[in-house]
Amino acid sequence: MNTLSAQPFSERTALASYTQNARRTVPGFDSMHLMASVLLAQRAPQGGRILVLGAGGGMELRLLAEARPDWSLDGVDPSEPMLDLARETLGDHAGRATLHLGYIDDAPTGPFDGAVCILTLHFLPAAERLRTLRQVHQRLAPGAPFVVAHCSFPQQPAEERSRWRDLEEAYIVASGGTPEMARKRRKGVEEGLPVLSPEDDERLLHEAGFGAVTPFYVGFTFRGWVASA
Ligand SMILES: C[S@@+](CC[C@H](N)C(=O)[O-])C[C@H]1O[C@@H](n2cnc3c(N)ncnc32)[C@H](O)[C@@H]1O
Repeated sequence: MNTLSAQPFSERTALASYTQNARRTVPGFDSMHLMASVLLAQRAPQGGRILVLGAGGGMELRLLAEARPDWSLDGVDPSEPMLDLARETLGDHAGRATLHLGYIDDAPTGPFDGAVCILTLHFLPAAERLRTLRQVHQRLAPGAPFVVAHCSFPQQPAEERSRWRDLEEAYIVASGGTPEMARKRRKGVEEGLPVLSPEDDERLLHEAGFGAVTPFYVGFTFRGWVASA
């Protein structure tokens, strides 16, 4: 499983290594997920209903289920194998989450008391990203928190973009990945991932209707924000 590949998340044999590869690619992968769940736990109400977009893998579903036994969780993802992995990850907590195969349009209309979308929006070109963000916003109660994190780094000038990609490649090797894996990832990012700059990502959040857009995480080429609906 390639955390940054635009390839469909459907290679069953690769799924087992998803978490290991993600940890090697995303600095602070586990801490970032934990921060997202702490942010939601602090801002969403008792008995709240939480939307997890790009829920495949199940990491955030599990953390949220553990953090707040009073919440109900809806997870949405277009990849059946990734939803299977989410069920495995949830384990004893599987009953706490309703999983929906599909995209944001297939999510219940809510209203939700919080939403999270991690390592997912970097796959979406800007127009589809904005449409998806608007759909998330429509499903949230006024003022509800939205936690979002994905690949986002300066895109201009080209030399600066290249320096960030060098850094990402070096990080993968330093964290135990092979140079071949790092090169493959870079090629995937360069050819298939519609990465935006942090400024453009923040602009899309505002355009979608979110306010109080606040960064909470930066890990080299990855960023996270918390915002209010
Ligand atoms: C890198 S994984 C991240 C999974 C999980 N959020 C995590 O942090 O471990 C990206 C997930 O986004 C899903 N995905 C891709 N495009 C999507 C879209 N348009 N809407 C929702 N999920 C999408 C993929 O199927 C995949 O499960």
